Amino acid sequence: MKVLVIGGGGREHAIVDALSRSPQAEKIYCAPGNAGIARQAECIAIKDTDVERLRDFAVEKGIDLPTKSATRIESSKDFAKELMRKYGIPTAAFRTFDNYEEASAYVKAGPLPTVLKYDGLAAGKGVVIAETQEQADEALRDMLLDNKFGKGRVVVEEFLTGPEFSFMCFVSGTKVWPMVLAQDHKRAYDGDKGPNTGGMGAYSPLPFITAEDEAYALEHIMKPTAAAMAAEGCPFEGVLYGGLMKTPQGIKVIEFNARFGDPETEVVLPRLKSDIVDIFRAVAEGGDAETEWHDFAALGVVLASKGYPGAYDKGFEIKGLDKVEGAVYHMGTKAEGGKVVTAGGRVLFVVGRGATIPEAREAALRDVGRIECDNLFHRTDIGHWALSGK
Ligand code: AMP
Ligand code: GLY
Repeated sequence: MKVLVIGGGGREHAIVDALSRSPQAEKIYCAPGNAGIARQAECIAIKDTDVERLRDFAVEKGIDLPTKSATRIESSKDFAKELMRKYGIPTAAFRTFDNYEEASAYVKAGPLPTVLKYDGLAAGKGVVIAETQEQADEALRDMLLDNKFGKGRVVVEEFLTGPEFSFMCFVSGTKVWPMVLAQDHKRAYDGDKGPNTGGMGAYSPLPFITAEDEAYALEHIMKPTAAAMAAEGCPFEGVLYGGLMKTPQGIKVIEFNARFGDPETEVVLPRLKSDIVDIFRAVAEGGDAETEWHDFAALGVVLASKGYPGAYDKGFEIKGLDKVEGAVYHMGTKAEGGKVVTAGGRVLFVVGRGATIPEAREAALRDVGRIECDNLFHRTDIGHWALSGK
């Protein structure tokens, strides 16, 4: 089988790595890939947004595995929320507005903090947690009067509390194959301080989510959502990502994504024992697939460029990659004259394995210490939610 992976980050590296463990994947292409992916796949210089050239390439090479998905569940918060309301899938109470005055009045009548979500793809920047009416009004003004993200609507949502976790499932219509759970760490610095990022680390499994919690999330959230999309005439094919929260009132949905999470994928796929090609084929063509998982814990630490998520410099040489004992997924690197250099905000994802989460963390941090680069920083407390027993 010939497979084309589209993208060039840590997530795509983890997918390529899982594919390279399959005896069925004779040829793996990745567009555009990166310096690390190039060791395990043939990288093709086509941007991940250049859909026409990607299609032509896939046709020309006889690629057996392209996939498609009903991405509206991710791109429209309003669609996702209405679907959950209609099918009784637990989520925060909400109302949708396109009018500033009405939205502001609704916020005034309800409790604070409150959550405001721009309805549309806003590259993760469209969510504001407003502690005061002034903050809410300012955000509503940006979203509804000044159209800072474009012309859109706003979902005003009840503020929920509790630990967040990611539940990804392979989905083919009404068939759902759960993956093991993972947790992301959004803030830039230790102690969950600093600005929000694309994710600074992740780990799996999650000790604070019980087997009952997981069964509940599968039976009452993930499976009903797949069934709802099929019933609405937009059956889902691909990876359905549930961003869930364990609130005092039970597990609820924060968001859905129509893709593998990043960096969750980098700690989930290493735990996959089954052949990922069988799973992808079942997703794309229907049929059955086994999904068995390893018991070990995986914990990954992001090495990011100093300054990230703000401005940062690129082109710093990375040394010591050959001394690392575990896996390193490249998130933003480039080969330059035989050297590997930094080429993004998030640069490397170093994964440790162990019988327990503390052991996996030690393994990851040991490997982080073997990597030399003048312009990288990382968090040292990934997994602290699990370790503090919260
Ligand atoms: P989203 O883009 O919907 O995932 O929101 C980004 C982040 O905002 C989430 O990961 C949560 O930490 C936070 N968040 C979103 N919705 C809520 C909510 N209803 N209650 C509390 N926090 C939320
Ligand atoms: N780690 C969060 C996401 O992939 O959306």
